[in-house]
Amino acid sequence: MAAAAAEQSVEQFKGKARLPNFATPRRYDLRLTPDLEACVFSGSVAVSLDVTAPTRFLVLNAAELDVAPGAVSFAPQGSDKVLEPAEVTNVPGDEILIIRFNEVLPLGEGTLSIAFKGTLNDKMHGFYRSVYELNGEKKNMAVTQFEPADARRCFPCWDEPSFKAVFKITLEVPSEIVALSNMPVVEEKVNGPTKVVYFQESPIMSTYLVAVIVGFFDYVEAFTTDGTRVRVYTQVGKSAQGKFALEVAVKTLVLFKEYFAVPYPLPKMDMIAIPDFASGAMENYGLVTYRETALLFDEKHSAAANKQRVAVVVAHELAHQWFGNLVTMEWWTHLWLNEGFATWVSYLAADQFFPEWNVWTQFLEESTTGFKLDALEGSHPIEVDINHVDEIDEIFDAISYRKGASVIRMLQSYLGAEIFQKSLAAYIKKFAYSNAKTEDLWAALEEGSGEPVRTLMHSWTKQQGYPVINVELKDGKLQLEQTQFLSSGSTGVGQWVVPITLCCCSYSRQEKFLFQGKQEEFNLSGLIECQKKDDFWIKLNVNQTSFYRVSYDEELASRVLDDTYALCMAGKQKLVSLLHLIAAYKDETEYTVLARVIDTSLNIVEMMAVAAPEELVNLKKFLIVFLEPFAEKIGWDAKSGEGHLNALLRGTLFTALAELGHEATINEAVRRFNVFLEDRETPLLPPDVRKAAYVALMQTVNKSNKAGYESLLKIYRESDLSQEKVRSLGSCPDPDVVREVLDFMFSPEVRNQDSIWVLRGVGAAGYEVAWEWLKENWDHISATISGTLLTYFVSITVSALATDEKGDDAEEFFKSRTKANIARTVKQSIERVRINAKWVKSIKSEAELGNVLKEHAVKL
Ligand code: BES
Ligand code: ZN
Repeated sequence: MAAAAAEQSVEQFKGKARLPNFATPRRYDLRLTPDLEACVFSGSVAVSLDVTAPTRFLVLNAAELDVAPGAVSFAPQGSDKVLEPAEVTNVPGDEILIIRFNEVLPLGEGTLSIAFKGTLNDKMHGFYRSVYELNGEKKNMAVTQFEPADARRCFPCWDEPSFKAVFKITLEVPSEIVALSNMPVVEEKVNGPTKVVYFQESPIMSTYLVAVIVGFFDYVEAFTTDGTRVRVYTQVGKSAQGKFALEVAVKTLVLFKEYFAVPYPLPKMDMIAIPDFASGAMENYGLVTYRETALLFDEKHSAAANKQRVAVVVAHELAHQWFGNLVTMEWWTHLWLNEGFATWVSYLAADQFFPEWNVWTQFLEESTTGFKLDALEGSHPIEVDINHVDEIDEIFDAISYRKGASVIRMLQSYLGAEIFQKSLAAYIKKFAYSNAKTEDLWAALEEGSGEPVRTLMHSWTKQQGYPVINVELKDGKLQLEQTQFLSSGSTGVGQWVVPITLCCCSYSRQEKFLFQGKQEEFNLSGLIECQKKDDFWIKLNVNQTSFYRVSYDEELASRVLDDTYALCMAGKQKLVSLLHLIAAYKDETEYTVLARVIDTSLNIVEMMAVAAPEELVNLKKFLIVFLEPFAEKIGWDAKSGEGHLNALLRGTLFTALAELGHEATINEAVRRFNVFLEDRETPLLPPDVRKAAYVALMQTVNKSNKAGYESLLKIYRESDLSQEKVRSLGSCPDPDVVREVLDFMFSPEVRNQDSIWVLRGVGAAGYEVAWEWLKENWDHISATISGTLLTYFVSITVSALATDEKGDDAEEFFKSRTKANIARTVKQSIERVRINAKWVKSIKSEAELGNVLKEHAVKL
């Protein structure tokens, strides 16, 4: 059996999802020399490894690296011999390097040495360059982004999360520059214009968490109570913008140390803002990288929403230092463990530090987004098979993050906070410096709670979708029935073990039980008593902690907007009843609830624009009449001492009114904007309403009058705060201008990372233009954009289309252009178009719509 590996030929290693494991790395001694001007790098790596079965081969990952055949050798430990390979084969499709020796390698330790060269690319993955300005001069910095599988683009390695090893990193860089890595510097040797920086050896960790950064930066610094050094690095001259994140980080490290009952394992934590960054942030061990908008906070120019984003992202990435970095998923199938958990626990932290933000109520937006994706036939189970490296990027999606976080929340609230935390701490302790699967977490929670966690959770993580629970009362008994919810309106065959929480007539007593059949009857004693009351009510899914929808019978008519919206879209309820429901929120005071109402309203506007453009004016009028009183109450100017949620609401409200074309809002916005244009420090346009003002301004723009757009370009060009730039990338009701904005988005003036903001802002008027534009520019887009960013281009543009013709068009277009890295997204987006189209048809058939709109606008 052991001889098998020795007999194999090069061919047998090709086309495999995972690397063979007859040799495993223990320690990497890695040296890198980036050339920031020529945008290339050279490097050498000495990997100490264990040969565990006889083999003539070593197989590891490498991609886009130049490895000369003479640059590879293997030295078995304890012998003087250095083995030269007979053949080094690079397989680009599999991103592997197959090294064949003439003799069988001795079992036990040995060192594989490889010298290599590469390019500092501009694709925001692997070892790449980001561009910034220093003293008015353009400069390159060198940055790494390795998750999920791009360490192999920087150095040859066993680039899978389960091959954990120790890293000893050395950098050779210009002597005056800042060089950072996961661990602190142990020594610097300056030699004229260059220096060699030696970093301390790391604990064992996965390759995707290795990081290196070289550039000019400033920083602010603080220490945790137990002495961990924390720094936030920013562009030179902007370190004050790092203060808020620094404060949050220090508190978060202390909180998580307690929550996971294990200290933060590294001696330092550096966090750094990178001007060109593919995602929001990346949890590299001890050196977390961020997009500027997710780390920097400017007291004068950042909004409340920006502040919350920074706090949540920092908490999320620091959670990974334990959940992900210390205990790592065994394979990408379990990615959701990382991302779902970090998402959930970031809310826990934010709620501790900023209780007035009501983040758990805001969490609803996470589950709503999860619900939307998971209602497609093209969704996927939380635990998803990964058979090729190109499939990994696409699963950093709403299923892994949002459904993942939601099912964790559901379980936590079912088991109870204390038991949940204790079992979790036991899990972290057991798997520290090692890898775990989803099963392992369930086992720990089952042991800690005595509840059937495995059976319960398998139904949520191994099958896609979720149930809608039908509730009926019959003869004093509660009848529940579950069916899989699908946006298409058809019924799926899924069945779940559903933790039910229930209150009737009072929130002071909660019933809790598992519902696992297709249909079950429950005899609840409390129910019989309180049913006698006149104002009897019943609520399932108390606090919305569970991942299912509820459909009550007539008698229990629901007030839950999001469920109604979804049911409406699936053709199970009429749009008219959704509009009635919206109108019923006219006295709502909660920011989160109103934000959902507004979001839903704008979605309806988008559909109506296709379904019944002649009703659009009335729909907008109806929504304006509904929103106006809120806007009047809250006003454009912040009241002294008002809360965070008020500030969020103000921005959301005025942005919506601007999008709806509300004249008073637009006039006031333009008035304030003109003052702002002359004086960027004016109190008339505080950051919370700037986005609203920009959207309003773009409503005044058309082909023959582009003054507003030009003013916005001026703001864009003059601001050096990313949050400000991103806000000002707005759109317009005039399709010709939309096209111009899209072209600007792809000009050298806009960083690739920011381009999706333009697409997101396109709005109902621009989606068809955006789709035509995407088709025309696809070759360029797919050549320059990669990873999750590319999937956003597809999903944002295609999912917004709403006719069958467009659906056919998209299908035809992607037939010959779909690759493994976008396949899932293309399929899901087209499914959405079909669902939209169906909804559009049903809206068209609602004859009474027009009258209802008019009636309501008057009554409101
Ligand atoms: N591990 C991810 C970063 C990542 C995303 C790597 C996609 C590779 C592909 C990181 O922890 C993360 O989740 N970042 C989020 C922000 C978070 C607050 C939800 C992001 O980038 O959006
Ligand atoms: Zn994450």
